[in-house]
Amino acid sequence: MLLKPGERLGRVSSWGGKSAWKKVIRFGVGFLAIFAFAVILWPKLERHDPIVNIAPNVTVSADIKCPLDLELIERFGVHKLRNYLRREVVAVESDADLPLSQSLETPFLDTHQLSDADKDLIKQSQDECLNPLPITLNVPRSPRSVDASHIDFGVATTLERLNDSLDAFSHWAGYTRTRIFALLEPHDKVPEVEAKADLLGINLHVTQSDQEYQTRYFSLLPHLAENMREQTRWSCIIDDDTFFLSMQALVKALAEYDDTQPMYLGGLSESIPQVGIFGMMAYGGAGVFLSRPLITQLSDSATLRDCQSMDYTGDRRISYCVYQHTDTKLTVDHRLRQLDMRGDVSGFFESGREPPLSVHHWKSWFDTDMTKVSAVSDLCGDNCLLRKWFFSDGWILTNGISIIKYSSKIEIDDPSMELTWFGDHGAEFDSYLHELGPLRDKDWAKLSFTLEDASVENDKVHQYYVHRDEQKGDEIIELIWRSG
Ligand SMILES: *[C@@H]1O[C@H](CO)[C@@H](O)[C@H](O)[C@H]1NC(C)=O
Ligand SMILES: *[C@@H]1O[C@H](CO)[C@@H](O)[C@H](O)[C@H]1NC(C)=O
Repeated sequence: MLLKPGERLGRVSSWGGKSAWKKVIRFGVGFLAIFAFAVILWPKLERHDPIVNIAPNVTVSADIKCPLDLELIERFGVHKLRNYLRREVVAVESDADLPLSQSLETPFLDTHQLSDADKDLIKQSQDECLNPLPITLNVPRSPRSVDASHIDFGVATTLERLNDSLDAFSHWAGYTRTRIFALLEPHDKVPEVEAKADLLGINLHVTQSDQEYQTRYFSLLPHLAENMREQTRWSCIIDDDTFFLSMQALVKALAEYDDTQPMYLGGLSESIPQVGIFGMMAYGGAGVFLSRPLITQLSDSATLRDCQSMDYTGDRRISYCVYQHTDTKLTVDHRLRQLDMRGDVSGFFESGREPPLSVHHWKSWFDTDMTKVSAVSDLCGDNCLLRKWFFSDGWILTNGISIIKYSSKIEIDDPSMELTWFGDHGAEFDSYLHELGPLRDKDWAKLSFTLEDASVENDKVHQYYVHRDEQKGDEIIELIWRSG
């Protein structure tokens, strides 16, 4: 059924000429009729007519016999659609101690493995893109609320960037009673952004400052110190693209440390060349956590004056300040992630390990929209993000990230992480071992559907996983999550 390159493309190009738009308008109605006719006669035409235009620039394989959301397909930039599959996922909360990777006895795509009764069900389905067999997945019960009023966050950025970050911030900071202090360049739209934060349940406190960026960044330290309230235990400096996957997990992780002692807590770069250049410090993108005693110690005015005048910038200035003015050493929490990685970071997210507390660089060095990744947590809680389910036909769902099939079998308990990304300054395999080992080489023949969008509608969450193939056409899998 696959369209071979070059096969029957004549019809497509007849719609692609100069007057394509006019033709579409003129023949729109007729075209729809032909399309419907083709659909009805489908079984007979199958071998001769593998492609249909549904818009001037969009062709779909005539295998696809269900109504499609053209707006969605165009938004994904799909010009040639080979397959569209919808499947319902029922998330069942469980109190059992569920492993991060679970194996299932059902296939995901390979219908040959199904029983005859199930095959019949699929044949009878009204919506031919919908596999009528829901997938039932056990997910851990997640607490619905968390109190993070003892953690304050500080971010130095611009108003536009802060505004753009609010949706992502709302995932972890919304309705948790934490506070975010932002030091921004002066801007007349501050009230608008504050109102947006308010709507998202984010406790945002904006201070406008015309300090130069590096000075402003370091000023977060005294700013957070001045604003500590009685219950404040931790102050944390973040970048505007620092993302926490779960506030519950963060609160739990911080509780493992003694915050009555001076603590400088953070994550190192995953890449040794970066560590060589920037040093052993808490990398800013992963979140720099300072316990109350430490930040109090540093906010002595002579110390602040000395630190603010240091040559080093950003997170380095903070580390110099800590190292030169206190005897506190860095405590590394390997779940706080700077993610100095570029390109394809699928291997990191698909590792099946305990999810990171924080991630960074997800809208610059690589492209993994964490707001979309985390959308499904509305339905199944933070603890179901990045969980893996192994289907009997070799397909693996990593929730929020991808649906993949490796070219050779990877055991469910394989502890290694696939090194799919690349890094700066000559980073190679060895460069990442200290943080991410065990590692294994990239599987270049892995088949991947990657999450490109997600939406929450009433009590359902739709996730769209897309496999790109310019020649054969793109394929979309839509998972429709509901609670069971
Ligand atoms: C059609 O697709 C091509 C790329 O395949 C794109 O450059 C062009 O802008 C698209 N035209 C329309 C009308 O969407
Ligand atoms: C903030 O973002 C929203 C979109 O979420 C946009 O409509 C609005 O114009 C932005 N405001 C500013 C001041 O950039």
